[in-house]
Amino acid sequence: MPLADFLADLEALSAEARKAFESAADAPAVEAARVEFLGAKSGRLKAAQKGLGKVEKPEKPAAGKRFNEVKREIEAAFEAAADRVSRSVGGGPASSTFDRTIPGIRPRIGHLHPLTQTMQDLKEILGRLGFTVADGPEIEDERHNFEALNIPADHPARDPLENFYLATVGKRVGGPLLLRSQTSTVQIRVMEQTPPPVRIISLGRVYRPDTADATHYPMFHQIEGLLVDRHVTMADLKSVLRLFASSYFGGDVHIRFRPSFFPFTEPSVEVDMSWNDGWIEMGGAGMVDPHVLEAVGYDPEEVTGFAFGLGVERVCARRHEVTDIREFYKNDVRFLEQF
Ligand code: DAH
Repeated sequence: MPLADFLADLEALSAEARKAFESAADAPAVEAARVEFLGAKSGRLKAAQKGLGKVEKPEKPAAGKRFNEVKREIEAAFEAAADRVSRSVGGGPASSTFDRTIPGIRPRIGHLHPLTQTMQDLKEILGRLGFTVADGPEIEDERHNFEALNIPADHPARDPLENFYLATVGKRVGGPLLLRSQTSTVQIRVMEQTPPPVRIISLGRVYRPDTADATHYPMFHQIEGLLVDRHVTMADLKSVLRLFASSYFGGDVHIRFRPSFFPFTEPSVEVDMSWNDGWIEMGGAGMVDPHVLEAVGYDPEEVTGFAFGLGVERVCARRHEVTDIREFYKNDVRFLEQF
């Protein structure tokens, strides 16, 4: 092929390509032009490169030089076009479809889960009465979940079918591991670490293999309270629970104790609360059993204490008139948005 013909074709291709890129209005048009002219397989520049092979040998260097220049021109035209259309997407002056007066997309702002809100309220109320928050592990050993709490080996609460035991290999100090079935474990953990007086609450998850229904779930939350000092009496327990209940529910709430039994308190009571002309059960409480005080190295002749354990779901459900605690765990935003 004569050099003049090759160069003429090249000039025509360059002009056509630059025009195509300049007039491309949007990203798809730029891409179509890129494929047409710069496509690696069947682009027109590629075809022109094949023509280079047919130029007479002495003229090849001149043809090749011009080919490379044209290639750079077309690539520059492509880059300029790509840059132009990408800038106009953001509402730049070249964009015709973007309406900057349309309101933005409002981000959906969430809030704390009702149970978390309840736990924060409880911490705040009892914090005002001088209780500090203590934490304990959800995976516990038998010593903290049962033994130090005076719950003997043959107690029905220790039945493997009533607990989530973990598969543990060999003998462990503290006994086999399980998911804690009550937050009373934290009483032991705190007293083991701290000499009296203590005044703590602990809130968190507990686990029992119960079938889920309106009032049961295999995981739920408890708030535990413990106060140990000189001269602590049941009157103190009742005062604290009454102040707590009237702060959380509002108004003049009465507290009723019914005799009960828990291995770690003596005497033990079920705690009921008057609410809208009825009594509702809030949980258990009592005076810390001397065996428990001894198990952690306290002297029961020196100090006495009270403890209580209440269901967080229960108080939250009462206050908000939720009739099925399973609602708390479904994560249905239509339910959660109401709190
Ligand atoms: N841990 C008991 C339970 O889960 C509740 C309880 C009863 C806690 C009496 C206490 C207490 O601290 O004194 O059923």
